[in-house]
Amino acid sequence: MKEALEKLQREALTEIRKAKNKEEFLGIRIKYIGRKGLLTDLLRTLKDVSPEDRPVLGKLSNETKNLISLEIEKALERIAEKDKEGELLREYIDVTLPGRIFPYGRRHPVSQVMREICSIFSDLGFIVVEGPEVELDYYNFEALNIPKDHPARDMQDTFYISEETVLRTHTSPVQIRIMEKQRPPVRILSPGKVYRPDSDVSHTPMFHQVEGLLVDEKVTFGDLKGVLRYFAQKIFGENTEIRFRPSFFPFTEPSAEVDIKCVICGGKGCRVCGQSGWLEILGSGMVDPEVFRNVGYDADEVSGFAFGLGVERITMLKYGISDIRLFFENDLRFLDQF
Ligand code: FA5
Ligand code: MG
Repeated sequence: MKEALEKLQREALTEIRKAKNKEEFLGIRIKYIGRKGLLTDLLRTLKDVSPEDRPVLGKLSNETKNLISLEIEKALERIAEKDKEGELLREYIDVTLPGRIFPYGRRHPVSQVMREICSIFSDLGFIVVEGPEVELDYYNFEALNIPKDHPARDMQDTFYISEETVLRTHTSPVQIRIMEKQRPPVRILSPGKVYRPDSDVSHTPMFHQVEGLLVDEKVTFGDLKGVLRYFAQKIFGENTEIRFRPSFFPFTEPSAEVDIKCVICGGKGCRVCGQSGWLEILGSGMVDPEVFRNVGYDADEVSGFAFGLGVERITMLKYGISDIRLFFENDLRFLDQF
């Protein structure tokens, strides 16, 4: 039995040396010195031993048990120690790691272009003013020479808040609000949101316009053309092709719309320019004498021109964007490019 005890001890210690983790050590403890372990099995044979030898062997088996138990305790302690170190290592801050990159915000492309437009006209002496988006029917239509039941209202049907208030369909009402308050000369620019029941690749129900108005003595159509050509070349580049196309607005006479050679198709015709090769960016004209009368200006003394730019259209042309709706989908993959 003595040999058997020594053998058990040797094997147990070898296994302890080879074991790697907590589970393995606990397994060894159960296997050798657990209640149904190998040592217990061995002790059952103690009754077959001669009475004189019993105390010696009993003592030896106790020592074996204690030794195995102690070795396992020590090993478990070492593991616990290592775990703690690991934790400390994990908490240690590695200052050589690259930092986290926070995404930078930036202005929406439409806002960027709106600012650029304002800056170009500011250089020409235009002062930036703003008007309300919920507008009186009077300012949006009537004072601009678009009476109720006039067919020109169909061109700009809108969202009515009440019978007398609408979401403005253009920035032109700001012309009236300014002229009511201010005597000539006037040289203002008014950016902002406008609303129409429109929706396709080049029209959205909400979009941005920048209104311009210049009133003084002896302002001519030549001044209008010069200012708008200057603007187009500033924003699109020196070699920009633009054309003035006769048009009609009830509040200007004569009226013209300005088109830019379509940058999507280079003028060949595509779905963005409606196969025409040109894309309209603004409406303009000489202020109608009837409008001057509505604000108490003397139409024999002063003359002026006005224009209304479509900001999304200009942004599309500037960057070759083929669908206006991309501006309003809030897809960062698109917006990050500007
Ligand atoms: C007007 O709104 C006039 N108030 C412009 C004006 C001002 C004329 C001063 C004379 C004097 P129009 O409806 O054409 O005009 O619109 C002006 C520009 O807005 C268009 O050239 C186009 O670039 C843009 N636009 C019109 N509708 C939409 C829409 N639904 N979505 C995006 N852009 C649009
Ligand atoms: Mg138009």
